[in-house]
Amino acid sequence: MHITAKCVEVNDFLKKIGINPEIFIFTILFGFIGAFFEGISFGFLIPIVKGIIEGNTFFINEMPFMKDLFSYLPNNYTNSNAKVFAILVILAFLCVALKNVFMYLTSLCSSFQVWRFSNNLRKKIFERYLSFGKLYFDQNNVGRLHELLTGYTRQISMQIKEVNNTIFQILILIIYLFILLAISWKLTLFIFIVSPIFYFSLSNVVKKIKLNSELFVKNYNNLLLVISNSLFSIPLIKSYSSEEDEKQNFNKYSNLVEQNEFNIDKKKELITPLSEILVTLLILILVGLMFYLIYFQKEGDISSFMVYFLILKKSTYSFSAIAHLQALLQAISAPMREINSIFNDENKFFVNSGFKEFPGLKEKFEIRNLNFSFNDKTKTLNNVTLTLEKNKITAIVGPSGSGKSTIINILLRFYDYENGKIIVDGEDLKSFSTKSYLSHIGYISQEAYLHNDTLRKNLLYGIGQISDEKLLETVKETGLEKLIKDLPDGLNTLIGDRGVKLSGGEKQKVSITRAILKNSEILILDEATSSLDSISEQEIQKAILSISKGRTSIIIAHRLSTIKNADKIIVLKDGEVEEEGSLNELLSKKGLFFDLWEKQRFF
Ligand SMILES: Nc1ncnc2c1ncn2[C@@H]1O[C@H](COP(=O)(O)OP(=O)(O)OP(=O)(O)O)[C@@H](O)[C@H]1O
Ligand SMILES: [Mg+2]
Repeated sequence: MHITAKCVEVNDFLKKIGINPEIFIFTILFGFIGAFFEGISFGFLIPIVKGIIEGNTFFINEMPFMKDLFSYLPNNYTNSNAKVFAILVILAFLCVALKNVFMYLTSLCSSFQVWRFSNNLRKKIFERYLSFGKLYFDQNNVGRLHELLTGYTRQISMQIKEVNNTIFQILILIIYLFILLAISWKLTLFIFIVSPIFYFSLSNVVKKIKLNSELFVKNYNNLLLVISNSLFSIPLIKSYSSEEDEKQNFNKYSNLVEQNEFNIDKKKELITPLSEILVTLLILILVGLMFYLIYFQKEGDISSFMVYFLILKKSTYSFSAIAHLQALLQAISAPMREINSIFNDENKFFVNSGFKEFPGLKEKFEIRNLNFSFNDKTKTLNNVTLTLEKNKITAIVGPSGSGKSTIINILLRFYDYENGKIIVDGEDLKSFSTKSYLSHIGYISQEAYLHNDTLRKNLLYGIGQISDEKLLETVKETGLEKLIKDLPDGLNTLIGDRGVKLSGGEKQKVSITRAILKNSEILILDEATSSLDSISEQEIQKAILSISKGRTSIIIAHRLSTIKNADKIIVLKDGEVEEEGSLNELLSKKGLFFDLWEKQRFF
């Protein structure tokens, strides 16, 4: 059955993210006890109604269950109508009270489990994100990943709460069914025959919800993309006065989302009235049947049929809740699939770590015949072979897009490679533990990665405790001292999203300071392309020179003046090593490097 398949899917999903569905056992147990008391309370209702209609309670001694119950009581409790009636009312009340106590416990359990589940799911997804390769994030929209982590997680959790409620309703329905069968199996059999018609008319509606829910996710993701694109590029929008275009683009997706949301509701909200109408029709037919049973077949009596109706009325709620379950499972299936996509290993670009502890560089890195492509069409790196020696400054230069940053990303184990080898002192780079290897590397990226936090926290990211004296000494070296003095709260100033409150040069200086503080033996620097004024440029060059000295340094330089002190320069073009040598060798060769050098001479 379709619903079973969905339940299995949910179950698999829970297992996959490390949550045992058995944790819901308490909800079910308490729910069952609650349902049991609800059933019993109806059992007491029949003699109460009968007592009112007949004006006495003598029939108690002939009712199967009541007869036994009252035989346990002393004689003076059962010898008057009033006393028996009072006992029946008290017992019915106690059952209703107990049912509610257990229902509260059920909701409590369910709520506890759902928020625990939500928290676990969030933590698992975040942990997964951190385990993915850099390429995954190059290819996926951050807005969507953000929504998946927060919005969808919450959405699914809320729905699971609903599922818990439905389980309770199923239990109650089972108990109701027993009572209904006990009162009249003929009427109940009739209900059994007509309910499938009821079920199939609803499932038709549910199918349409599924379609809409998938469309909703697609449009919603597009909307998130538009939001993150716009909010991350406000200066671009302003400088091109493209507010109107952005607004229209946003409105387009926002309207589509509205349409989808309304379409889903249109179908979803139809379920309750539709079921109510069908149930009413069913009840009317039942009344006719009851009339026939009482007056022509002389079966049953008015009091038990009245209770029968009451239970039936109550079951409609349980029944529609169960019918709702399928819609519920359908509505969460698309967000669940999105979250599920995080838990499969397809296109996550994992970079497997080796096991060996990296002991530090002894001699050299050798990149041999390295090939790398982002897609099937173009080769970003083509048969790159080069050597990076210990304690030497190696510069990599070349036109934009020639593959310089790609080499660095591979060297840093951000991207995995299959074609070619990287040998470190005679051993395969892949055999080393990535964590221990990277702990020996200070990396200054082309874009400064900064958190919306204080300047101090940004400077000390991943570094650990460092005294303020040492920190101030280092910032003096990197030219950040003046900035810290000028900032309203000094080191405790918040620097904004991705450091927007800092200038391009200041951001670079923060990255450089971080690398100096890390004090690692290997330095990899991917120089930012942003143009700096000549004072900043000199300062940054001074800082770069001071940290690269005595270290194994790999410097990607756009401003060729940065690499005057390099021991070796590698010139890259279209992913291939075009030239290689010292500054003087390359200049006298009058090749590509010479051209680049001549072009920059006048800047
Ligand atoms: N994540 C990515 N997905 C697909 N293609 C990419 C990705 N990153 C880079 N590329 C492509 O690979 C090529 C090399 O890019 P790379 O960033 O290595 O160039 P670069 O030499 O560092 O350039 P620049 O000097 O501008 O920083 C470029 O053509 C670029 O379009
Ligand atoms: Mg680059």
